[in-house]
Amino acid sequence: MATMTQTDLEATAKALVAEGKGILAADESDGTIKKRFDSIGVESTEENRRAYRELLFTTEGAEEFISGVILYDETIRQAASDSMPFPELLAERGMIPGIKVDKGAKDLAGAEGETVTEGLDGLRERLAEYYELGARFTKWRAVISIGDGLPSDYCLWTNAHALARFAALSQEAGLVPIVEPEVLMDGGHSIEDSYRVTDRMLQALYTELFDQRVTREGSLLKTNMVVSGYDAGEQADVDTVAEMTIRCLRNTVPAAVPGIVFLSGGMSDEDATARLNAMNQRGPHPWELSFSYGRALQAPALKAWGGDQSKVEEAQKAFYRRAKFNGAARSGSYTPEWETAEVA
Ligand code: 13P
Repeated sequence: MATMTQTDLEATAKALVAEGKGILAADESDGTIKKRFDSIGVESTEENRRAYRELLFTTEGAEEFISGVILYDETIRQAASDSMPFPELLAERGMIPGIKVDKGAKDLAGAEGETVTEGLDGLRERLAEYYELGARFTKWRAVISIGDGLPSDYCLWTNAHALARFAALSQEAGLVPIVEPEVLMDGGHSIEDSYRVTDRMLQALYTELFDQRVTREGSLLKTNMVVSGYDAGEQADVDTVAEMTIRCLRNTVPAAVPGIVFLSGGMSDEDATARLNAMNQRGPHPWELSFSYGRALQAPALKAWGGDQSKVEEAQKAFYRRAKFNGAARSGSYTPEWETAEVA
């Protein structure tokens, strides 16, 4: 790899986890965005999806707290009402455009209840096109469930292998890979189970990244926090989540990785912010600890919009507010009292 490209990758990775900033995940697949729109009674048409994403991307001041935005294949080809292509609009506003490139989690052969993420065939060509369209980073998500006897080591290693193949190809194309092994928070498992599975998954992932010659400096990790399953009788508090998550990451993620960005995974907006804040209060850490939230950044905006274009301003205020709170959580300076106060 040319030295210049290597430098570019590192610079992009660092910019994505710049002080006080994190990533907006707006890369919902057709199926997922339909689910989100169903929740507000809005039909998932191409125009509605475009209008909703335009609302988010054009929020005044969002770039103070949002370093980059992950787009979906349809979205990276769309444009704002004034015809400016979304990637160009984002770059002009100081937010780096990124793209989800996996093709989703599919049943893993011979492993009941487990999946492997697909999308490697033709990936080199797709990456070249996304770079041309303006993307500077990529994302690939693997999905790991905790359950009776699950996950299997087979599932973890197969997904780790695919994540590393994706990461190597991305770096070859000059794109910073965000590797995302998501250990689902659904289920009745304890926080200790979440720790054990996340620990093992990350160990497998960094073994594969090493073996497949991925430059850790030019990559980011997107992962789940270590938490109690949603249906567990006993729910770990914010301090326990922060401490166990940090311990797990310190054991598995090389210090050369510039940043770790969390997914929200269905946590409440407040939990997602408070837990990130608690972790950053315990810093400094070897890597930046930041966010790459989908739902936890968008939920109040989606609700405020409700498909009504006369509510755009209200929705943008709601989005700005969550972005600001999470921006503060980057330095541990958020306080839960803000949730009930008139902070804009
Ligand atoms: P959530 O924050 O809604 O989990 O989405 C983040 C994401 O991009 C999952 O791949």
